[in-house]
Amino acid sequence: MRGVDRVFYITTPIYYVNSYPHLGHAYTTIIVDGLARYYRLKGYKVYFLTGTDEHGDKILKTAEERGKSAQEFVDEIAQAFRKTWDDLGITYDNFIRTTAENHKATVQYVLQTLYEKGEFYIDEYEGLYCYGCERFLTSKELDDKGLCKDHQKPPVKLREKNYFFNLEKYRSWLREFLLKEDPIYPRFYRDEVLNLLEEPLPPLCISRPKSRLPWGIELPFDSNYVTYVWFDALINYLSGIGFPHNPLWSSYWVNAHHVIAKDILKPHAIYWPIMLRALGLPPYRKLYVHGYWLVDSLKMSKSLGNVVDPLELSKQYGRDSLRYFLFREMAFGYDAEFSIDQFLRRYNSDLANDYGNLIYRTFNLIEKYFDGKVPPYSELKEEDYKYREVVEEAINKYLRLFEGLFFHQALEELWQAIRYSNVYIDHTAPWKEIKEGRADRAGTILRNLSSAIKAFALALRPILPESSEKILEFLSVGNVDYSVILNWDLPKEGASVSKGAPLFPRIEFREKVESKNSQGEEKSHMERELLSIEEFRKWDLRIGKIVFAEKIEGTDKLLRLEVLCPERRQIVSGIAQYYAPSELIGREVVIVANLKPAKIRGVLSEGMLLAVHDEKGLALIIPERETTPGAKIS
Ligand code: MSP
Repeated sequence: MRGVDRVFYITTPIYYVNSYPHLGHAYTTIIVDGLARYYRLKGYKVYFLTGTDEHGDKILKTAEERGKSAQEFVDEIAQAFRKTWDDLGITYDNFIRTTAENHKATVQYVLQTLYEKGEFYIDEYEGLYCYGCERFLTSKELDDKGLCKDHQKPPVKLREKNYFFNLEKYRSWLREFLLKEDPIYPRFYRDEVLNLLEEPLPPLCISRPKSRLPWGIELPFDSNYVTYVWFDALINYLSGIGFPHNPLWSSYWVNAHHVIAKDILKPHAIYWPIMLRALGLPPYRKLYVHGYWLVDSLKMSKSLGNVVDPLELSKQYGRDSLRYFLFREMAFGYDAEFSIDQFLRRYNSDLANDYGNLIYRTFNLIEKYFDGKVPPYSELKEEDYKYREVVEEAINKYLRLFEGLFFHQALEELWQAIRYSNVYIDHTAPWKEIKEGRADRAGTILRNLSSAIKAFALALRPILPESSEKILEFLSVGNVDYSVILNWDLPKEGASVSKGAPLFPRIEFREKVESKNSQGEEKSHMERELLSIEEFRKWDLRIGKIVFAEKIEGTDKLLRLEVLCPERRQIVSGIAQYYAPSELIGREVVIVANLKPAKIRGVLSEGMLLAVHDEKGLALIIPERETTPGAKIS
């Protein structure tokens, strides 16, 4: 492998210090932390940079409003960001602040170099200036009332002499770079930028008169001006690795990756590569762009007052639970909705029910029947090999998907194997083997499971670092990397195993349930049709365990399921648009067991699954803990 491929440089945006960190900031930082941990586990030399963006008019104004000096104010909030990342266990290598001397020196070096190369020209310009955006706006950036689209405020007419950077000169190079190198992911964001590049690029005003805006980095060639806050901010990606004087910078820069949200696509996809090109430096390798966290369909932001505090969530439910939710719930590139109910639902179903249970059951059986020592393998049976195959396939898919930033799909794949593990333990029933005197058979099953749990914990280290570490400790595996992920001889025979305390105890919570009539008013009891208890008793509701699922060809809604209830029966269910067949295997659901059998699209259906349908889609009704197939619901 070439040298460049063994280093991995990754950055978050540097966050403005006009507000405290919220869940949106935490998402980007946690995703970057996950990627940094992943590449470290793969043996790369990783450099992870984050920090704060501290210049500009907005920050000066906020400081004044709070009755503080600008420096005092930025120190305070920069510290809050640093503390939040420390409290969340973020493994950054450097926290850059744009008010730090080394950053200022790098910005001035870049400005001077570009000035000497003749990239800037001075011009008198009259335009519409938005103080929120801290720049002149073009007519396209105004709405039909003439307000700034982002800030919903009227821009101010300003006439000023300033320094400008001719971006247009680099437009065709940039187009070619975006097409040839394909550096922006997901690709639809690249296409959005290519669209902007269809028209000439207006010059970028890179200065602000000090008389109007004193809080910035002075232009080294004209002390009447400071530089534009974005020009200053983007350079953090170079100053943070010691550009230009520390020779280390170039070894990292060759494999640079930036993660941002879509709000700051333009400066990263247009200004930044052009600045680098003008400087004579290679552009970044990849720009990863994610969507917004929304609350009730609106972007989470300080100005809307709908922010969620990531520290509160992590204090209440654990850092790993917060990380799991963020990785699992957002399809990278698209917006996702945050709600505490969904957070807890995910926690209970995936972490408490599927993963936590599997670990606790397996380790508990080893403690109880094997004196807390990993039992030896005896002969492996067909079902054990099949289980290994399922785990190996899921782990390989997970790693591939994770690397491609398909985090939610990666987790879905892994969870199929985790759920299947619960099916494997149920079917092979090691406790029964013990009771019937076949301890060697029980040992083989439990050792197979322990090795799979080691693989899950290792795979999940970038996402669930604390619990993975604990699980590997419970298994006496120690600090291993991905090279042993599918080694079925690890943990070693005889190694001690302890079950510890449950890692993800269930959280009881009350979901908000709505009961409204068509006018949106609460329905009274009288308005609802009431059933007698005798009528209700006619319903034969039972727990069914799904053991097989497939799509019915030629339909897009129907799945054919095989369900243990306790006998095996076939059910046709219209849930294909909400659940993938593989996601369902091993799940316990509620079925109506005494429905008259019927043929649906020619396929016999012997029952019906119960589900709830709300504005978020469809969710199956599942029991609160693992139960017995066929158990009656009353
Ligand atoms: N200071 C600039 C960035 C300069 S980088 C050279 C800035 N700062 S910011 O504080 O506004 O941070 C914006 C970033 O915060 C987004 O790109 C994203 O990473 C994160 N997010 C802020 N709100 C968010 C959501 N509601 N949802 C997802 N990410 C969010 O822009």
